[in-house]
Amino acid sequence: MRILITGAGGMLAADLIRAADRAGHRVLALPHAQLDICDERQVTAALERLADGEPAEASGAASEDPSPAIVNCAAFTDVDGAEQRREEAFAVNAEGPGLLAQAAAARSIPLLHISSDYVFGGVRPGAAGAHAPGDPYRESDPPAPCGAYGMSKRAGEEAVAAAGGQHTIVRSSWLFGLGGRNFVATMLRLAGERGAVSVVDDQVGTPTWTGHLAPALIGLLERSVRGIVHLAGGGEVSWCGFAREIFRQAELDCRVQAIGSAESGRAAPRPAYSALASERSDVIALPPWQQGLEGYLAARAGIMRA
Ligand SMILES: NC(=O)c1ccc[n+]([C@@H]2O[C@H](COP(=O)([O-])OP(=O)(O)OC[C@H]3O[C@@H](n4cnc5c(N)ncnc54)[C@H](OP(=O)(O)O)[C@@H]3O)[C@@H](O)[C@H]2O)c1
Repeated sequence: MRILITGAGGMLAADLIRAADRAGHRVLALPHAQLDICDERQVTAALERLADGEPAEASGAASEDPSPAIVNCAAFTDVDGAEQRREEAFAVNAEGPGLLAQAAAARSIPLLHISSDYVFGGVRPGAAGAHAPGDPYRESDPPAPCGAYGMSKRAGEEAVAAAGGQHTIVRSSWLFGLGGRNFVATMLRLAGERGAVSVVDDQVGTPTWTGHLAPALIGLLERSVRGIVHLAGGGEVSWCGFAREIFRQAELDCRVQAIGSAESGRAAPRPAYSALASERSDVIALPPWQQGLEGYLAARAGIMRA
């Protein structure tokens, strides 16, 4: 395939570019500075480049032209910032994906769009439709976001589906990878600065290593899996439990003090529970999140050594 990756400067995109390359695909990776998905002219120009055969085989060999595909990794991912900058969040997370999906549909190019577990969890715990630990959200569950970020991501899913083209909407959660700022990196840094950290224990979800997610996304494209797909690390944990496992695996002596969301002082409401699992037989589950953490720590240590 020839794969256009938008938001190519981001964390997930970094591993996706590597995974696509390793799987033998040609990659047209456009960071924000080269493609603003909210700018219709830029979107049209990028899709024309893709439809016209970019990126070409390096040797110029006249081999069979591989089919085009798009993965949208561009997003406004500042969950707290989205509460104040709502318009910007909706522009990047909903209107931009809508533009991209319409342009892709007009050219019959499949689009894989990344969404989030934060489309769930807006229903009060215990109320009808709310899920609780041990009962992850599946693709057929009705979304109910609780903050501006989750609402904008849900609006993006709707805009992609409404364009009517071949599309895959992949919901993932609690991402960590070498290509960007993330919770694991923050905990490792804090452990070097102090002997204890306070972490919320009343939000439970599924940590996902981008090193596991990225090749699985390429697999979905290769197998033409369409519709909504839940793809996150196996199992579930609170942020507090996640922090403890980070320090255990990294052999760091840092105490984790459990606090409630109300004490955390974050601007945006977050789901109390948003773990994901797939009910689809054509989706290959990712390894447990603890294995993802092992992979991330090993990859990080490799970079530190190099
Ligand atoms: N991180 C998580 O925990 C998490 C969890 C669940 C789902 N997701 C979803 O996974 C996807 C990838 O997330 P990530 O963590 O890799 O995010 P990220 O590191 O923040 O990357 C997003 C990229 O999008 C770019 N971008 C922003 N506005 C753009 C625009 N108008 N046009 C083109 N590019 C634009 C950003 O560039 P600038 O920085 O230059 O603006 C950034 O490079 C997103 O859809 C996100 O919603 C993330």
